[in-house]
This record gives sequence, structure tokens and C-alpha cells, in this order.
Amino acid sequence: MSHTAPASAPPRGELAARVERVTKSYGSGDAEVRALDDVTVGIPKGRFTAIMGPSGSGKSTLMHCMAGLDAVTSGEVFIGDIELTRLDDKRLTRLRRDRVGFIFQAFNLVPTLSALENITLPLDIAGRKADQAWLDTVIDTVGLRPRLKHRPSELSGGQQQRVACARALASRPEIIFADEPTGNLDSRSGAEVLAFLRSSVREMGQTIVMVTHDPAAAAYSDEVLFLQDGRIVDTMADPTAEKVLERMKGFDLPKVVAP
Ligand SMILES: Nc1ncnc2c1ncn2[C@@H]1O[C@H](COP(=O)(O)OP(=O)(O)O)[C@@H](O)[C@H]1O
Ligand SMILES: [Mg+2]
Repeated sequence: MSHTAPASAPPRGELAARVERVTKSYGSGDAEVRALDDVTVGIPKGRFTAIMGPSGSGKSTLMHCMAGLDAVTSGEVFIGDIELTRLDDKRLTRLRRDRVGFIFQAFNLVPTLSALENITLPLDIAGRKADQAWLDTVIDTVGLRPRLKHRPSELSGGQQQRVACARALASRPEIIFADEPTGNLDSRSGAEVLAFLRSSVREMGQTIVMVTHDPAAAAYSDEVLFLQDGRIVDTMADPTAEKVLERMKGFDLPKVVAP
């Protein structure tokens, strides 16, 4: 069986993850910040979903809650059929390790390990053997073959982020969460990473959720969810940078404060 063949598209409407009436507050009393306010949303399988919104709108909080990196104040969070708030720490850690991939703005590579060792690290920690054919596909798709023995410090920012992408894909997770994955990259390296993320969705059937504040990055996705003040206020299918930018302009209006 070829590992490069596109995964058969999952039935429309099937969800890789979802949150139901999720609220997340930081602090209490006068100092309470409601980062998520009664959010209900599903992430479709085999699609590239972008979460957009102004700074402080709750994007990272939503991603962290969806991925089980952060506990919600109320509501339910599902990865596949599994409800995360019912899991103890040990089960939650195992679920994240076995079923979820992460890509962060700061790459988070281990400086003393080679690119290849970084890519296989999560599998090594889990005591799982890499599927060599799949690993080869991932490495060739991100174009890292000539750089596998290099340490992160010997790689450009774009190459480091491609290592982080390969690391996230190596275990074929059910869902990958990426928080501002191009935030530290110049526009050319950013475009390479985004093109790769999109092709991993189109050609490998991967499910990706990407948090970004950049309309050009969101344009690589299949659908954009817009967050404002901790609520999903809009969605946009088949986005372009221009359409997203236009929608975002509506968020920058100063708030009218009632007297
Ligand atoms: N650990 C925290 N403690 C207190 N407030 C937080 C914390 N993390 C986020 N917030 C607040 O929650 C809101 C949403 O933050 P965040 O999810 O980081 O927004 P975004 O990623 O869209 O910029 C902001 O008002 C932010 O200040
Ligand atoms: Mg953020």
C-alpha cells in the first residue's frame, strides 16, 4: 500500500474536534478576564481551519483548550469522541501524545538534537517505532532530506519550522494544532510552511487548526473562524487574504461605551 496516496476524504461533516459551550476565565472578581465566552464550534476532519481575530480575542486560549493543554472553566471539549474534561492528567497526557500534533510560533526544537532526532522525538518518547515509509514521505514533502543531520542552530528559521511541522506529522496525529506557526518567519519562509501545511491537508488527509492574526496566512485555509472578545462571531469558506482583511477591518472599530 502506498503511503503517499491521498487519504480517502472523510464524510462531510465528520468532526476531528469540537467544543460545546466552553467558557474560560482567568482571575476572579473584578480581575476576571473572560477569554472564551460560551463558544461552541466543530473542526471538520481532513480540512485546514484557521482561527482569526484581533490580539486578545481568545485565539490561543481556544486552541489550548481544544488541545487539552489548558482546562476550561465550563463546557465540554472533544477530540474525536473523547471528552477531555473527564480525563485525569495521565490519560490527557497520553491522548495528547498519541493523537494530537502541535506546532508553535517558537518552533520548540531541542537544540542538542539533530533535525531527524527532533522529528522522531515524540515517537521515541512514546516508545513507538516510526513508520519509515511515512517518515520518508514527510521528510521529502517538507524538503528536509539534505538537512537531517543538522542541529536547529545550523538551520534557518523556515527550516526549523519545517522540522517542527515534520515532527507534528510524524506520528500521523488525528489533528494538528498550530499557534501562529509563521509568526517568527519572513514572508517567504512563512509561505513555504503554509504551502506545506495546506498540502498535508490536501494530499495526506491531515486535519489542521491554525491560529493566526495574518490574513495572508488565513488565506491558505479552507475555512476561517473569526473570534472577537472570546466569541465566534463569523466564519468564511474559501478565504482570500483580501476578503479576510476586509472582514478584520470591522473588528478594529473603537468600542462604543454606553454613558
Ligand atoms: N494566563 C493568563 N492569565 C490571565 N489572562 C490571560 C491569560 N492568558 C490569556 N489571558 C487573557 O485572555 C484573553 C485572550 O488571550 P489569548 O487567548 O492569548 O488571545 P489571542 O491569542 O487572541 O491574542 C486576553 O484578554 C488575555 O489577556
Ligand atoms: Mg495568541
